[in-house]
Amino acid sequence: MSLPHSVRIVDVGPRDGLQNEKQQVPADTKVELIRRLGEAGLKSIEATAFVSPKWVPQMADNAEVMAKIARLPGVSYPVLVPNEKGLEAAIAAGAKEVAVFGAASEAFSQKNINCSIAESLARFRPVVEAAKKADIAVRGYVSCVLGCPYQGEVAPLAVAEVAWALYEMGCYEISLGDTIGSGTPEKTKAMIEAVAKRVPLKKIAGHYHDTYGMAVANIYASLELGVAVFDASVAGLGGCPYAAGASGNVATEDVVWLLKGLGIDSGIDLDKLVDTGAWIAAQLGRESGSKVARALLAKRAKAACA
Ligand code: HMG
Ligand code: MG
Repeated sequence: MSLPHSVRIVDVGPRDGLQNEKQQVPADTKVELIRRLGEAGLKSIEATAFVSPKWVPQMADNAEVMAKIARLPGVSYPVLVPNEKGLEAAIAAGAKEVAVFGAASEAFSQKNINCSIAESLARFRPVVEAAKKADIAVRGYVSCVLGCPYQGEVAPLAVAEVAWALYEMGCYEISLGDTIGSGTPEKTKAMIEAVAKRVPLKKIAGHYHDTYGMAVANIYASLELGVAVFDASVAGLGGCPYAAGASGNVATEDVVWLLKGLGIDSGIDLDKLVDTGAWIAAQLGRESGSKVARALLAKRAKAACA
């Protein structure tokens, strides 16, 4: 199959990227990050999560963040919701798109959302129904699609089963999460091929953490199969609080560089994105996790000295 002509990137930095930060990031910093990502051309920016503040304290300011976002036309600001309580709070905060999040691993499901896979699906069904009634789009995540921090290998058929259940329930897109970033291109392809037997390929998104440095290779493998939506995190921020040692998502800058090299349109201004990544990395007091951003910033600095 030929590569897609265009790709949509969902920047999950403000949620996945920041949820694991030990220091409380001020709501205004999150809002400014979201503003800058919108200015850089991102059309989907995952803004926050309406989860229990006891489980993920960093997302406790969800309503404040939603209230302060200056929404750009044509940009969607999805938020995570684990249950009906989360959906109600998200709607009250003005969310127009939500995401439910399940897993292909029983052990991870228990650690992350305190219930079995079957219980989670039963919990999501009324969430999806209520969201649809309120005209709110629902995305579905499947975690641990290429391995689980607690139970190791995860069978592609198990991923396909959960992906299909979420799709059948009414999720408009299924994002396949390599939560611990242990996947490799051939494994990624086998997993996507299994899912694509149950869920249309154009409804599949890749969400690859970069713990082992394989995320860009896995995106390329997915592109070769025709996947055209990828989640990424500016500056490679992040990690999951229930997947110890897992690093952030693939850096958005690295994905945009790959796509540019392949002549695939993402609608994103790489220079503005690099500035955004440098800005949030400085706010957090660390270096950007994006190799592309570091290289481009070094080149800029050299040019400025010349
Ligand atoms: P539980 O303790 O089983 O829930 O947690 P519960 O229904 O028994 O409620 C316990 C308390 O939480 C109660 O409060 C509820 O009101 C409250 P209390 O009476 O003790 O004061 N509560 C809530 N508060 C705010 N918002 C809510 C909510 N629901 C209940 N929505 C629960 C179950 C699902 C709530 C909990 O496990 C949870 O919040 N988990 C979220 C974990 C999380 O956010 N993980 C990270 C995101 S997933 C991820 O990163 C993976 C992904 O990126 C893809 C990938 O990489 O693989 C998406
Ligand atoms: Mg994730």
